[in-house]
Amino acid sequence: MKGKFIVFEGCEGAGKSTQMRLLSEYMTAKGISHILTREPGGSDISESIRRIILDGKNSDMTDECEALLYAAARAQHLADTVEPALLRGETVLCDRYIFSSFAYQGYGRGLSLSFLEEINAFALKKFMPDIVLFLDIPSENAFERKHGADPDDRMEQAGSAFHARVYHGYKELLRLYPQMTAVDCSGTKYETSAKIAALLEERGLIGR
Ligand code: TYD
Repeated sequence: MKGKFIVFEGCEGAGKSTQMRLLSEYMTAKGISHILTREPGGSDISESIRRIILDGKNSDMTDECEALLYAAARAQHLADTVEPALLRGETVLCDRYIFSSFAYQGYGRGLSLSFLEEINAFALKKFMPDIVLFLDIPSENAFERKHGADPDDRMEQAGSAFHARVYHGYKELLRLYPQMTAVDCSGTKYETSAKIAALLEERGLIGR
């Protein structure tokens, strides 16, 4: 693949979209062509699947159905959006990827990691990111930042114990997946953004 694939992960309210926007501005100023996209979603069909997954009315959805829908949205998003951009030589900045499935459906819901690895291996074929930036802020602080959970969002309504398991799950994943790097987010959003840009430059993922 010609382009670089950069993934942002973290708990709700960790500041992924803000950091992606700041990185995008930095890359635009440097003339680095890139796209911003997200999971679940990032293409027409995947955005439709997203609405089904997150719809607060779908409270009866089984954990298995949820995991398969995330993987289905992922397969379509890769084909429609990620692969074409990488082939064009553009850098892809993606909000969430398989690590969200491992953290939320695995550590959060309690599904086995081997089941999740299996369905996701089928969905994603060869697409592994060049780096996964985990924005490290505990779930309780992250929810405070965004002023509580959204009542219409099924995942945000899963409760504080669920989100604490997700955060600790990410910490485990950092040990299991060498592509994952934790970014300390205790400073201002500009300090975090400068750390991210420096890290990506150091790794040769964005030009100097
Ligand atoms: P999103 O709006 O992206 O949440 P946030 O803005 O907080 O990142 O909604 C995505 C939700 O879906 C979020 O609660 C995390 C969850 N999710 C999973 O549970 N598994 C997955 O594989 C993915 C991609 C997301």
